[in-house]
Amino acid sequence: MHTVRTNLLDRITITMSLLFMIRFTLAVFLVCFLTQCTGNTQAQPEEFVVQSSSLQGYTQWLRATEISGTGNFPLLLGRAHYSSSPWVTRRVYVNTLAQQGRTQGEFSIGSIIIKTFHDNTGKWLLGEAMVKRQARGGTFNTDHQGWEWLEIKENGSIALDSAGREQRGAQFYGNQCNACHAQYRTNDYVFTY
Ligand code: HEC
Repeated sequence: MHTVRTNLLDRITITMSLLFMIRFTLAVFLVCFLTQCTGNTQAQPEEFVVQSSSLQGYTQWLRATEISGTGNFPLLLGRAHYSSSPWVTRRVYVNTLAQQGRTQGEFSIGSIIIKTFHDNTGKWLLGEAMVKRQARGGTFNTDHQGWEWLEIKENGSIALDSAGREQRGAQFYGNQCNACHAQYRTNDYVFTY
């Protein structure tokens, strides 16, 4: 009788411990799931990595401006953007998101602004673009409000160098795009729009 009772007690104790372990394990999994402790602990910031396909047909977008020579920014420009070549026409196109303008001083992620350069015979010379890849305070081009700078071809494709690398980046063109456009930081780096 005594042993039977002990056995029964033992079994109850084992069952209880098993139940406790199962509940404990489930609880740990649940906490892990909720806090994402198994993977990345931090949520990834929202990011728009532009592809050539998003730039096709840009000549149908809103044409914000058309400028030749030094335009409104003679001192700022120096010799950049063909400003010392009055026979070159610069046109600026903005996608729908960029047209919506700034919210609290900032263009929204996915805003694209394209600038084209043609000579006075209409011949294509160059295309450049600035794309809001991340919001201010993100991890991309942190010091310059998340803008990515690119060179594009006439059909909108991202230009490639001889090794086939896309001409783009945060510090593009020896950081000159950042450095000069930063003078218009309060306008979120955009001069003409
Ligand atoms: C020395 C100054 C300077 C440098 C360097 C410079 N920009 Fe600009 N950028 C300007 C100015 C000023 C304007 C507006 C007016 C104009 O074109 O006359 C402009 C306009 C633009 C625009 C149209 C949107 C806007 O801000 O009005 C784009 C796109 C652009 N630049 C891209 C680039 C890229 C890409 C680079 C680097 C490869 C670059 N810029 C380098 C001064 C500069």
